[in-house]
Amino acid sequence: MRTPPRSLLLATQNADKIIEMRDVLRDLDIELISAASLEGIPPVDEDQDTLAGNAVKKALTLSQLTGMIALADDTGLEVDALGGAPGVYSSRYSAPEATYAANVARLLREMQNIPESARTARFRCVIAIARDGHVNTVEGVCEGLITATPRGTDGFGYDPVFWVPDLRKTFAELSLAEKNLISHRGRALRKARAVLEEIFR
Ligand code: IMP
Repeated sequence: MRTPPRSLLLATQNADKIIEMRDVLRDLDIELISAASLEGIPPVDEDQDTLAGNAVKKALTLSQLTGMIALADDTGLEVDALGGAPGVYSSRYSAPEATYAANVARLLREMQNIPESARTARFRCVIAIARDGHVNTVEGVCEGLITATPRGTDGFGYDPVFWVPDLRKTFAELSLAEKNLISHRGRALRKARAVLEEIFR
């Protein structure tokens, strides 16, 4: 496979993550290629028990497979009243192939008796950048509260129930630019951008 010299593989099949990644990285002079647009890229089994473990595994696997520099993200929602769950299992919280809606429904069910003051949570995003068998990792965190009911229609995943106290809105009530400015992924991507500027100097 021929790869352009200044290109970065976004090592995820998640179209929602790709949109946020492209938005933050768009002003880099690098071609961003989504793994979903390449043929023959198998899904990577996210079987590690940490976010960093999964992010590193995804980035290294796809970098080795394509010969490209690869960027992967693994994200978890940590809810204090649930002892940090769903955490690294956020995508499979209600079932192995769960929909976003089913995961949100389970979360709200588990938390139905938790008072507002104890509904603190955070999103944590680890991004790994792999090249030639080497990996860099960066992390971004965003603190918030879990609402009692979903609000808003933008974003994805747990966004409709993740309330940002300073903005008095859920992530799903924010535009893409507003979410990226404060979100776990936006913060991690801006750190990743600094690493990429070094790599592609
Ligand atoms: P993973 O990083 O692909 O394992 O994603 C974990 C799960 O967390 C996803 O399936 C989503 O449900 C959720 N998730 C990841 N990032 C976000 C986000 O930015 N907002 C809301 N939910 C998210």
